[in-house]
Amino acid sequence: MPAVIVVGTQWGDEGKGKATDQLGAGVDLVVKFNGGNNAGHTVVIDGEKYALHLLPAGILTEGVTPIIGNGVVVDLEVLFQEIDELASRGRDTSRLRISSNAHIIPSYNRLMDRTTEKFLGKRQIGTTGRGIGPTYADKMNRIGLRVQDLFDESILRQKVEGALANKNHLLVKVFNKRPVEVDEVVAELLSYADRVRPMVVDASLLVNDALDEGKTVLFEAGQATMLDIDHGTYPFVTSSNATAGGACTGAGVGPTRITSVVGVTKAYTTRVGEGPFPTELFGDEGEELRKRGGEFGVTTGRPRRTGWFDAVVGRYATRVNGLTDLVVTKLDVLTGYEQIPICVAYEVDGERMDEMPMNQSDFHHAKPIYECMPGWSEDITGVRKFAELPVNAQRYIERLEELSRVRVSVIGVGPSRDATIVRHDLAAQGNK
Ligand code: GDP
Ligand code: IMO
Ligand code: MG
Repeated sequence: MPAVIVVGTQWGDEGKGKATDQLGAGVDLVVKFNGGNNAGHTVVIDGEKYALHLLPAGILTEGVTPIIGNGVVVDLEVLFQEIDELASRGRDTSRLRISSNAHIIPSYNRLMDRTTEKFLGKRQIGTTGRGIGPTYADKMNRIGLRVQDLFDESILRQKVEGALANKNHLLVKVFNKRPVEVDEVVAELLSYADRVRPMVVDASLLVNDALDEGKTVLFEAGQATMLDIDHGTYPFVTSSNATAGGACTGAGVGPTRITSVVGVTKAYTTRVGEGPFPTELFGDEGEELRKRGGEFGVTTGRPRRTGWFDAVVGRYATRVNGLTDLVVTKLDVLTGYEQIPICVAYEVDGERMDEMPMNQSDFHHAKPIYECMPGWSEDITGVRKFAELPVNAQRYIERLEELSRVRVSVIGVGPSRDATIVRHDLAAQGNK
């Protein structure tokens, strides 16, 4: 009954999609447990590139049941766009299941997301504009719409009316916009009902039954530790729990069922949107790493901010997620650097800090203390065994392992499924 959680350890885009896809062969169910179509997960299979936003990466593997858990927020238009696109490329999407408790992103929350960002001015978060924040806010405010509401028109109407009563005041009186019509929203949502109905399940029951039957379940996170609403760089975060705990609440499984927690990290760091980033590189240096890594967002196309590996963030991610393994991706991108700095601690107002500062303001002022590792120049994209990596690349990985306090089990040396070095088999672990 292996139950493996896969989380991002940095600010997203670490390569979770590839990691999930790769584990796919040994997995029966893949459950997405948080976030929505703010995610952009890239999977490259036989040279074909797939960009998944809302759908779990497991959708690309035959025999895997992909599940959208209760912790996810679902934009129904995007759901069917993604399904139709995959179908047009010959992929079977019929196995997809959706929790009846998952919340729906109504169109008015996309409007609210973009409008409130504008009003934040200099304090804006740089959201993806997909309505994620307002939909999670509605959930917590208990005025959200759930997938199950699609099947009872009068309940749906009552809920939309309830949500809009408040929002229309804001839209009209504060934001100077036109009010949103209840009828239009209800009609749009109902137009998806028949197509969604066969996919809707009690996802918690399905997942727990599968675990009881000895099946392997993978829990796939959107976003990442430093974007987590509780543990990230608040307020420059997303609005869900992207850390391991979120897998339990977002899928309806107890913590006692989890057998391992796999963190995915880049061999360096990137971030999209606003917020602090101590190891960020600017100017030519930042541009160089962005170019080498092809660091442009999958969801919004925005250039990603780039910087060196931050081991304070790494240690923090190990702690808050209880990581058992680390997947280090994009090691190939560092080929050719003579020296590779690693941030081992911060200096804050003249004092050394080895752990994540407790205060957000300290984190904003944190200056990285670097240790430099010698680089390598050999092409490593064809390497499949750790011992065959250049010695300096091996040392780099061993140092990340030491500083992050978790073993590095898998190393990515290219975007495709097979460009991977496996040191410990992740999917088999729960069988120990
Ligand atoms: P996710 O959001 O965590 O799934 O990551 P993204 O898909 O947004 O970004 C990761 C990018 O890195 C994608 O373009 C992947 O194809 C690519 N990628 C993943 N692993 C590797 C690797 O080991 N080497 C290289 N060069 N690219 C990789
Ligand atoms: P994956 O799953 C990188 C960032 C946004 C913004 C902040 C809040 O591909 O790693 P939101 O729209 O969620 O309210 O935006 O979070 N963000 C991501 N950054 N990768 C992601 O997902 C992200 N999802 C959200 O850029 O700064
Ligand atoms: Mg991404």
